[in-house]
Amino acid sequence: MAFPVVDSEYLKDVDKARRDLRALISSRNCAPIMLRLAYTSLSLPLSVSVCFPRKWHDAGTYDAKIKTGGPNGSIRNEEEYTHGSNNGLKKAIDFCEEVKSKHPRITYADLYQLAGVIAVEVTGGPTIDFVPGRKDSKISPKEGLLPDAKQGAPHLRDIFYRMGLSDQDVVALSGGHTLGRAHPERSGFDGPWTKEPLKFDNSYFVELLKGESEGLLKLPTDMTLLDDPQFRHFVELYAKDEDAFFRDYAESHKKLSELGFAPR
Ligand code: HEM
Repeated sequence: MAFPVVDSEYLKDVDKARRDLRALISSRNCAPIMLRLAYTSLSLPLSVSVCFPRKWHDAGTYDAKIKTGGPNGSIRNEEEYTHGSNNGLKKAIDFCEEVKSKHPRITYADLYQLAGVIAVEVTGGPTIDFVPGRKDSKISPKEGLLPDAKQGAPHLRDIFYRMGLSDQDVVALSGGHTLGRAHPERSGFDGPWTKEPLKFDNSYFVELLKGESEGLLKLPTDMTLLDDPQFRHFVELYAKDEDAFFRDYAESHKKLSELGFAPR
């Protein structure tokens, strides 16, 4: 099985959308919410979400055993973006709509994943390989649950392993919190993880190892990465070696953005 083939006109549209997203994300300083949209936009079809009710944004709901779900753009549906766990994402959906209206052939599923890739790139992070060709779905899952930020290692493993991801992926992807902040009105948590939340670097891990720091947030799921020896190994590695973080992050992000899409 190979990636779906897209025609050359579609590839040209993707290039143009790439440029438009770069300009939009830089001028509006909206990289964090665009990255959150990308990982949030992977959703399971209704029937599967009934069996596996733990919905994790768009990419995060993929089930590796059933090989279904993955990024399909369904988060654009009102019934889905109004889920409590998706609070705040409408803004990012509207930003993407500006690009979609200029390049209507691009699927929402591709557009949201491209926005995530560009968000990382324009804030100084690694280049993430992007393969287009995702299909849109209008079917939104029932409201599920985000990974519960108040839980520990078994919960994180439960969710990430279900998607076919590893301990290393969990830690590398948690480094996405190098961007942005939590908002009390959205999640009940407050504050950024790092001192420069618009810069993609390894400071999430550096701050995590430093412990409590005034004004900076550590979710219980962040602290779990310190407590569990398998997770901690990667936290220590990424805090001292930014190149290793960038390399692994780019790989894990690509995997996440291709759940249910990449040939396996
Ligand atoms: C924000 C939890 C994984 C990227 C948040 C927020 C919470 C959260 C509670 C705050 C939302 C708000 O109040 O606005 C979690 C948990 C995860 C997880 C428990 C499981 C490990 C990820 C992943 C990525 C990511 C894999 C991307 C690679 C972000 C970004 C923000 C964010 C960029 C900031 C959004 C903004 O500034 O508006 N996450 N998240 N998260 N998350 Fe995660």
